[in-house]
Amino acid sequence: MSTNPNILAGRPSRTLSGDVAVPGDKSVSHRAVMLGAMAIGATRISGLLEAADVIRTVQAMAALGAHIERHADGTWVVEGVGVGGWKEPEEVIDFGNSGTGVRLAAGLVATTPVKVIFSGDESLSRRPMGRITQPLSLFGARIDTAPGGTLPMRVIGSDDPAPVEYTLPVPSAQVKSAVLLAGLNAPGETIVMEPEACRDHTERMLKAFGADISEEFTEKGRIIRLSGQKELTACAIEVPGDPSSAAFPLAAAILCPDSRVMVRNVLLNPTRTGLIETLHEMGAEIRILEPRQSGGEIIGHVQAETSSLRGITVPAARAPSMIDEYPILAVLAAFAHGTTRMEGLAELRVKESDRLKVTAEALAACGAEVKTGEDWMEVTGSGGRPLKGGAVIDAHHDHRIAMSFLVLGLAAQEPVTVRGAEMIATSFPGFVSLMQGLGADIAPAEVE
Ligand code: S3P
Repeated sequence: MSTNPNILAGRPSRTLSGDVAVPGDKSVSHRAVMLGAMAIGATRISGLLEAADVIRTVQAMAALGAHIERHADGTWVVEGVGVGGWKEPEEVIDFGNSGTGVRLAAGLVATTPVKVIFSGDESLSRRPMGRITQPLSLFGARIDTAPGGTLPMRVIGSDDPAPVEYTLPVPSAQVKSAVLLAGLNAPGETIVMEPEACRDHTERMLKAFGADISEEFTEKGRIIRLSGQKELTACAIEVPGDPSSAAFPLAAAILCPDSRVMVRNVLLNPTRTGLIETLHEMGAEIRILEPRQSGGEIIGHVQAETSSLRGITVPAARAPSMIDEYPILAVLAAFAHGTTRMEGLAELRVKESDRLKVTAEALAACGAEVKTGEDWMEVTGSGGRPLKGGAVIDAHHDHRIAMSFLVLGLAAQEPVTVRGAEMIATSFPGFVSLMQGLGADIAPAEVE
């Protein structure tokens, strides 16, 4: 018998306790590096998520001409090239597993006359790029993808960009951000119409960098207007803890007996707090403590303790504010009293894995009762009793699947083993030691 760090097991655990801080928010981290890379002056970023996805963005921005350094105290300093100042990279830019990285970067280069080729790993190479190539072509960019609209993708930025008016066909912050970032180097006003609100970190951060951006709320949704070809000014950014990472220790505390965990300094932007709202409705003991404003965002501590959950219907309208949290919500629902129905889940099919299918199959393998349709899932809970567990789950190149099922193992009768657990490093370095520090039994599994 030996152990393999890529195969982890989550074993039955109790009495999780402690105060922890999770790594920086992934969405904010990508954007801080990208806007810093375009701004004039030195942007200082503290709390940057130093995980594989964000490091790809750092490398990409360096390949496009930005000067980026990590100081000994953990601060990152980005000196930008100015709007329209990208240098043509010599090599293909490989974004690994990061959909946010590649889609936002394509927007950044679409209105500057450089040729950039983007590639990604097996999972990213299956994900749709048509959702960004379509609006970015309207700016005058010439874009080719592999058949089926996937990576590799070549973007030849326009040398005479036109501003664009675009209504988001899907509530995707990646698409919205790609369009706004392209608009930074288009003359005149780029307008994005957002029928359903999705995370707004790009808009908030653009304001912090001095961009000429405004918003208006109408009956049809939110209208964002951005005036292009104005320089951005470097600023200081503090990245708060990632609520999508905080979800795992908090969920573990809810499921394991006699537990109470606090996660400090979590980003609580209202476009990201759908899981907390849902858990309140399910009767979870979860509280926000000391909420405050910092750098244009709300942050606070979140505390959760062992709870008895009841099944509810999670409306489709809430999906954008908890889009990355459905795998862990489905795990929580599997221990609730009654059935939890989650609607409006079509976007889950195009994440790092087909999260609807993979979550449902893995739950069933652990003994849960699950039904799915094209864009919904229903999980009937065990009524607070431990699920059987005992399954071997493949992460399917998806960090959130890996972490969700390790948490399930903590509350099951038998350990749950996760293969492909190295994917956790894309968003949550230190996950295993943080969970162990709380008392969770997550460790490399013994394999033959
Ligand atoms: C992200 C947006 C979401 C989310 C992803 C991060 C972002 O994707 O799932 O993890 O930082 O803009 P979509 O925009 O495709 O919904």
